[in-house]
Amino acid sequence: MTNESTREQGRTEQQLRDDLAQKLIEFGAARSPGVVTAFRNVRRHLATPEVDMARTYDAEFAAITKTDEHGVDISSVSAPRVQAMQMEQADLAPGMTVLEIGSGGPNAANLAEVVGENGHVVTVDIDPEVTDRATRFLKATGYQNVTVLTADAEHGAPEHAPFDRIIVTVQAADIPPEWTAQLKDGGRLVVPLRMRGLTRTVALVRDGDRLVSDGVELCGFVPMQGLGENRVRLAVLHDVEGEEVGLRLDGHPEPDTDALAKALITPPNKAWSGVTLGGSESNEHLDMWLTTELDNLPLLAAKPGARQRGLVASASPLGIPTLVDGDSFAYRTVRATDEDDRYELGAIGHGPHGQQLAERLVEEIRTWDRDHRGDRAHIEVYPAGTPDDRLPADGRRIERRHSRVTITWP
Ligand SMILES: C[S@@+](CC[C@H](N)C(=O)[O-])C[C@H]1O[C@@H](n2cnc3c(N)ncnc32)[C@H](O)[C@@H]1O
Repeated sequence: MTNESTREQGRTEQQLRDDLAQKLIEFGAARSPGVVTAFRNVRRHLATPEVDMARTYDAEFAAITKTDEHGVDISSVSAPRVQAMQMEQADLAPGMTVLEIGSGGPNAANLAEVVGENGHVVTVDIDPEVTDRATRFLKATGYQNVTVLTADAEHGAPEHAPFDRIIVTVQAADIPPEWTAQLKDGGRLVVPLRMRGLTRTVALVRDGDRLVSDGVELCGFVPMQGLGENRVRLAVLHDVEGEEVGLRLDGHPEPDTDALAKALITPPNKAWSGVTLGGSESNEHLDMWLTTELDNLPLLAAKPGARQRGLVASASPLGIPTLVDGDSFAYRTVRATDEDDRYELGAIGHGPHGQQLAERLVEEIRTWDRDHRGDRAHIEVYPAGTPDDRLPADGRRIERRHSRVTITWP
């Protein structure tokens, strides 16, 4: 390559990084100078040479690097927007020691940029192919203050503890005691925590043996492998290829799938709330409210074909909260209003009690609108075995092997 074309490529690369940093600022994902600078500096495209360079600098693009035998994505380089959001949640500073759980390379480099020469990043992945790739990337890009480990992160990284920050970049259903123990008191654990099917990246501050939330963001992450593996289970209601409909169960009661499959093909019963959302407003906090309040609310997962066939009115990759009771169910939906780009929230029920369930869901949507719109869920994590009287008295309790997670609202 001539010097001229090398210089040209360098300019293009820098332009892509500057544009990405600008986008992250506009999205509100990158707010602090350290995080913005990291995205301006890290040559992230070198981690995935098989991907078109420009795509790797797209704020929303996650490069999938591994898929399992069932077609489930199990490794990726996360999208820049998600990486920036978690970095801001972590409230990083120069000189810190940070553990990243789930490697890829670019995010460890981002963290290394922020903690600087006097800081240290430890990144751990269960998969040697991933750590090989990350090691090669970090060498090529010259980050020396990063240690790459191949291990199941269920036990953290005891030989490098204590940490100022732990950032988990893989979906976790539970918080192993080692993560809390290896975090300094007052330190932050940022984790995509799955709570009754809903995954949110939660910033948790250590306070003795408990963790207390300070920020909750919507996200999607690949599932945990190894000792902490705990996947949602799908109860299938309709099994035609491309039109599959099912309920994702995460500690919910076993549903009567035969009865619910029959209910799915009966005419829908609709109920409308009068509560509206702007087109860019998210359902994420409403869904957390519904999952806090309603006992049996798994998520409806439907392939786009199911929607095209008219089996369901809504489909979302994240799943839709669905109230289930015996032979009937009702899920949250929206319809257009007369106002441009505003949608009314409602529910669609199926089965003998579908109308009643749709009305129950709508009642809860109205309560959220009246009492909690603008509020954020408060999450606390206690070790399993903590007595009830130490937990918040109201709200939702989620019991996991290692922890008791509570969700409450102001
Ligand atoms: C989304 S990727 C990490 C992306 C990376 N942080 C980045 O953007 O640069 C999640 C990773 O978690 C890893 N993982 C899954 N279970 C794990 C476990 N128990 N311990 C360590 N790593 C695990 C997977 O192998 C996968 O590579």
